[in-house]
Amino acid sequence: MQNEYEIKKEMCEIGRRVYDRGMVAANDGNFSVKLNDNEFLCTPTGVSKGFMTPEYICKVDAEGNVLQANKGFRPSSEIKMHMRVYKERPDVNSVVHAHPLYATTFAIAGIPLTQPIMPEAVIALGCVPIAKYGTPSTYEIPDAVSEHLQYFDAVLLENHGALAYSDSLLAAYHKMESLEFYAQLLWQTMQIGGPQELNKEQVEKLYEIRRQMGLKGKHPANLCPNAKAGKPSCHSCGGSCSSAAPTADAELIASITKKVMEQLGK
Ligand code: 13P
Repeated sequence: MQNEYEIKKEMCEIGRRVYDRGMVAANDGNFSVKLNDNEFLCTPTGVSKGFMTPEYICKVDAEGNVLQANKGFRPSSEIKMHMRVYKERPDVNSVVHAHPLYATTFAIAGIPLTQPIMPEAVIALGCVPIAKYGTPSTYEIPDAVSEHLQYFDAVLLENHGALAYSDSLLAAYHKMESLEFYAQLLWQTMQIGGPQELNKEQVEKLYEIRRQMGLKGKHPANLCPNAKAGKPSCHSCGGSCSSAAPTADAELIASITKKVMEQLGK
């Protein structure tokens, strides 16, 4: 098991990867790691996450209050968003927030990543809804994200960026990488006529593989409320199935999303 210093070093390494892959600009992005129910490590606010050393990392309690921070460092301005994820998802040990170019492009266009276009994305992510816009650093973002937490392990933040969370820092980071790769593929196929989607049967086979692999986290393969109700699952609900929207709304949103995507792809 890693000690606290080793975790801080890993946070610096992940910061370098996030920065080097262009998933953040300047001082953007933040991430955190749960040590126990009342101690969490987080990146400091207002620094480039690509050039951190272990003494930059701050420690907060479950409410986001500072437990330890070296002189000149304060916890991320988005700490409330991180703490909401830990509060509502006890299985989560790490949260990663970034502004990857393609994923953020979709978040700004208001298009959720719901099209089943490749096996890895279907297995690893399912689909990625959009949490409605909130002012950074306020409770508006945690409240918007909260709607999706019980159904998804990654969300787009409307007009802002992306959020991924998992049982370890590396897994949460990988989720962010997969999300961005999926968004980039979707964008690129839209430039050459639009993607060919996997059909329902192909998606269901991939869901079955995920179930057999026993992958942790929330995913439409086992949790889509629409699928449970015998309705079309997440991949065709336009990313709205975690809200209380009635299915008629979900289907309408799905068909509008599909039409918009078709038009963009032409
Ligand atoms: P912090 O530097 O305060 O973590 O903020 C960066 C960011 O990306 C806010 O969305």
